[in-house]
Amino acid sequence: MFYTFAKGSIFALFYYDSPPRFSAVMIDKDKKFKRYLITSALPYANGPLHIGQIAGAYLTADIYTRFLRLQGKDVVFVCGSDEHGAAITLRAKKDKTSPQEIVDTYHSIIEQSFKDFGIEFDIYHRTSSKLHHETAADFFTVLHESGKFEQKTKEQYYDDEHNQFLADRYIMGTCPKCDYDAAYGDQCEKCGSALSPRELINPKSTISGNVPVLKETTHWYLPMGDYEAWLKEWILDGHKGDWKSNVYGQCKSWIEGGLKSRAMTRDLDWGVKVPLEEAEGKVLYVWLDAPIGYISATKQWAKDHGKNWEDYWKSDDTKLVHFIGKDNIVFHAIIFPILLHAHGEYILPDNVPANEFLNIEYQKISTSRNWAVWLHEYLEDLPNKQDVLRYVLCSIAPETKDSEFTWKDFQARNNNELVAILGNFVNRTLVLTQKYYDGVVPNGTFEEWPEVTKRIEEIPEEIAASIEQYRFREGLAKGMELARLGNQFLAETEPWKLQKTDPEKVQSIMLLALQIAANISIAMNPFLPATCKKLAQMLNIELSNWEQAGTLNLIEAGQSIGEVSLLFEKLEDEVIDVQIEKLQKKAQVHS
Ligand code: MF3
Ligand code: ZN
Repeated sequence: MFYTFAKGSIFALFYYDSPPRFSAVMIDKDKKFKRYLITSALPYANGPLHIGQIAGAYLTADIYTRFLRLQGKDVVFVCGSDEHGAAITLRAKKDKTSPQEIVDTYHSIIEQSFKDFGIEFDIYHRTSSKLHHETAADFFTVLHESGKFEQKTKEQYYDDEHNQFLADRYIMGTCPKCDYDAAYGDQCEKCGSALSPRELINPKSTISGNVPVLKETTHWYLPMGDYEAWLKEWILDGHKGDWKSNVYGQCKSWIEGGLKSRAMTRDLDWGVKVPLEEAEGKVLYVWLDAPIGYISATKQWAKDHGKNWEDYWKSDDTKLVHFIGKDNIVFHAIIFPILLHAHGEYILPDNVPANEFLNIEYQKISTSRNWAVWLHEYLEDLPNKQDVLRYVLCSIAPETKDSEFTWKDFQARNNNELVAILGNFVNRTLVLTQKYYDGVVPNGTFEEWPEVTKRIEEIPEEIAASIEQYRFREGLAKGMELARLGNQFLAETEPWKLQKTDPEKVQSIMLLALQIAANISIAMNPFLPATCKKLAQMLNIELSNWEQAGTLNLIEAGQSIGEVSLLFEKLEDEVIDVQIEKLQKKAQVHS
């Protein structure tokens, strides 16, 4: 049975508006790169993953990496669990357990759900590993010995009842900028301002609820102000027009606002010990420790695969790209680059394509309120539908501004796009091939449809240009254009009517439709890997190279196609209503 398809002339397709093509300058710049190091923010192992994180820092990185791999590039995609910092110790306190217990539990849950969702890291490491502790401590030592830190003794908030200094996250109070009364010592989540604990009005310890006292302690500070001129040149001049405007804008306001010294050590007992005798009871600041996790992950991967990690971190012909969410911009675009630069041996990120935030049903995602769609629950509730979520999250990715996920929209995109356009085209093509030719690919010629063949040749190039510019929504939409092209081609040529009168022409039509389907299996592969794998199996072709996309001989006359089944299924209201109810029911109401 066929689905109904959109009416409209096939010619309408050929006059669409295409954005300016990739500039020659950018292509030239990219030519110098021999290999790629792609990172996604290390998630805190203090809870499972939600779809906002996926849309922010993982899905796009995975698409980008798969695209590079399809081109046969030398690429390594690293990630791992961020297992230190107050996020972990706070969670352990709340659950009345140990930090180790917390990170062990969530590390495996997170690792598994990435896998099931098709996020294909080359390594998923952990910052609690021995290799990471050594790497981070050595990094600190190099900076310390070359005089890059200032040692300062200052008063800091201390909880008398619990006998401990309070990490920034352990202090809450009123934001001096917007008056929000639950701002943290390092940041106000309402207005987004970066804060220091002493700026908070009416500070309170989150452990005891008491008013904290001030007590002297010594720490090693990174004098970020010393790097202002360097940052101006590197980011504000060097990456103007090349970094996304949301990222560039945040960097500009940080740099122009003046950069203060920031302590790179903390009084805590959970983390990487500061490798100095006089620093007993102190650990590295988590935002020094965690990004070094990218380095230690690469080291472990290189060790496991007989590679040299230094090629990826210390060679100018490596392109380093950090995929993150917007709350991580300052750490990846300013602080970590300062550290890499101060160390002296490392390359800097070529780009930091940060995404904005994803809301759910028009509300901000909140883990404390349990207003979230959890990835592992999705994968359980809607099995074998990882590509549906990949499709939806990429279609609505918060690339330039916050965006909205709603279950109704999810359903609509599944039913009206994946089922009705992509699934429908593929199914019609394969079913007709079986019906008319017993599954054997017919022979034919394409001269009669130059506009169609032209678009088949062009679209993959356009997808490539979109991905290279971190415009994943646009790239995916172009992939869908291939399916639309296929549908409209069949609608215009009507092979089911011609089969009686002109079977020879139908052979050509079907061969061209099969070539479109085969092109989809490559061109959409980075976005929908499981679907494209299934499609290639149904077409009985083996495709592994991006270079093949845009050609018209991907499937050969005389070969048989494989078994045919549906790529996507319609989602009924009941299934969606269950999800909406689940979300509402589990959410806690906060006053
Ligand atoms: N764990 C941090 C977060 O979830 C991200 C750390 S990214 C790294 O916000 F670079 F520091 F590793
Ligand atoms: Zn505020």
